[in-house]
Amino acid sequence: MTISLWRQHILPFTLLVGLLAAATLAGDYLLHRLNLVWVGRYLGIPGTILIIASLTYSLRKRKYIATGNPKSLLKLHELGTWLGSLMVLIHAGIHFNAILPWLATVAMGVNAISGMVGKLLLDRSRRHVQGQREHFQLRGLSRVDVEQTVFWDAVALDAMTKWRKVHIPIFIVFAVLALGHIVSIFLFWGWA
Ligand code: HEM
Repeated sequence: MTISLWRQHILPFTLLVGLLAAATLAGDYLLHRLNLVWVGRYLGIPGTILIIASLTYSLRKRKYIATGNPKSLLKLHELGTWLGSLMVLIHAGIHFNAILPWLATVAMGVNAISGMVGKLLLDRSRRHVQGQREHFQLRGLSRVDVEQTVFWDAVALDAMTKWRKVHIPIFIVFAVLALGHIVSIFLFWGWA
């Protein structure tokens, strides 16, 4: 029990967070070594676009769009936000110019870590639901339908619902701060 908790949840979570931190430091170091610090200034743009594009999963889940495999879209969400956060973190670097961008960066970091906690919880609830699958007598359904039902059940599980009550407000704080930072950049573009 303790071993499986460690192997199935804590280890992957620690790896995901640790890799994000290590890749940020390595990226920042490389840009400085190669005299490419200016690249970091622009990395914020593709990073933001990647994060926004990754929210397609949410649109699919909330039925604003009807096509796309939810499981794959969630995988894309996980990968896209992780990579996008990495780019934004390298973009933020260790330069300190104003408070707002730093607040936005911290909120994004908290958002990304919270997302990884969500992934851990979702894996747990998916295992739980999968265990109950036979119970549901879903055998008559096609394999694709069974997969989809199991997926949505896992998403709906109690722990996930509670987690979302924390994750979505964090997301809103991050989105407002990031928007403030982006608007202020456009206002001051070319002035300095
Ligand atoms: C800047 C970073 C991130 C942002 C802005 C973000 C945003 C969101 C939002 C808004 C939701 C709610 C979806 C909904 O209920 O409609 C969500 C859910 C989720 N996110 Fe993220 N996320 C980020 C990073 C991550 C990361 C790094 C991971 C994992 C590697 C992740 C995994 C998840 C998972 C598993 C869910 C739950 C799916 C569900 O409730 O249906 N997120 N995220």
